[in-house]
Amino acid sequence: MAAAAVLPLLLLLAAASPASAVAGGDKQTHIKLYWHDVLSGASPTAVRVASAAVTNTSKTSFGAVVVIDDPLTEGPDLNSSTTPLGRAQGTYISAGKDEVALLMNMNFVFQAGAYNGSTVAIMGRNPVFDSVREMAVVGGTGVFRMARGYAQARTHTLDLNTGDATVEYNLYINH
Ligand SMILES: *[C@@H]1O[C@H](CO)[C@@H](O)[C@H](O)[C@H]1NC(C)=O
Ligand SMILES: *[C@@H]1O[C@H](CO)[C@@H](O)[C@H](O)[C@H]1NC(C)=O
Ligand SMILES: *[C@@H]1O[C@H](CO)[C@@H](O)[C@H](O)[C@H]1NC(C)=O
Repeated sequence: MAAAAVLPLLLLLAAASPASAVAGGDKQTHIKLYWHDVLSGASPTAVRVASAAVTNTSKTSFGAVVVIDDPLTEGPDLNSSTTPLGRAQGTYISAGKDEVALLMNMNFVFQAGAYNGSTVAIMGRNPVFDSVREMAVVGGTGVFRMARGYAQARTHTLDLNTGDATVEYNLYINH
C-alpha cells in the first residue's frame, strides 16, 4: 500500500525537475534595443543574396533571401549612437506569398555593455506590417546559455522608398 502511494509522487518529481534543468533558468532578463536594417547607401547592412523568378513581380517579394549584419543600438538614432551594443547577424527570408511575412533567423551578438561577448538566438515569423510581432528566443551563449524566451518587435521608422527600417526589439529571456 505504502509503495503504491509513493510511486505517483516519485513520478511527479521525476517529471518536474529535469524540465527546469533543460532550458531556461531562474534568471529573467529584459533587454530593449533598436535594430537597424540599412539597405540603401554605400555600406548596406542587409544584402539580398537569392531570389526566385517570381520574387521581383511578387507583391510580397516572395522568395527573397537577405543576409544581415545589422547594428543594434540602445537608442533609436543610429547616427547619434556612440558604441553600438552589438550586431544582429543572420538571414531573413520572404516566406509569405500573399502577406509580407519574413522568417527571421538571427543571432544578437553583444559587443558592449553588460552582455558583451554573449549571444541570443532568435527565430520566428515577422509579419512586418503588424504593430507587434512576436518571435521565439530559442537559445543563447555566454550569460544567455540555455536561454528561452520571446522577442517583441515594433517598427520605429520605415522608409518605403529605400526599405531602410529601425525596429524596437524587446527581449524577455529566461536563462
Ligand atoms: C530582380 O530585379 C533586380 C533589380 O531590380 C535585378 O538585379 C535582378 O536580376 C532581378 N531578378 C530576377 C530573377 O529577375
Ligand atoms: C545618418 O547618417 C547618414 C549618412 O551619414 C544619413 O544618410 C542619414 O540620413 C542619417 N540618418 C539620420 C536619422 O539622421
Ligand atoms: C567587449 O569584449 C571584448 C573582448 O573581451 C573587448 O575586447 C572589448 O573591448 C569589449 N568592448 C566593450 C565596448 O566593452
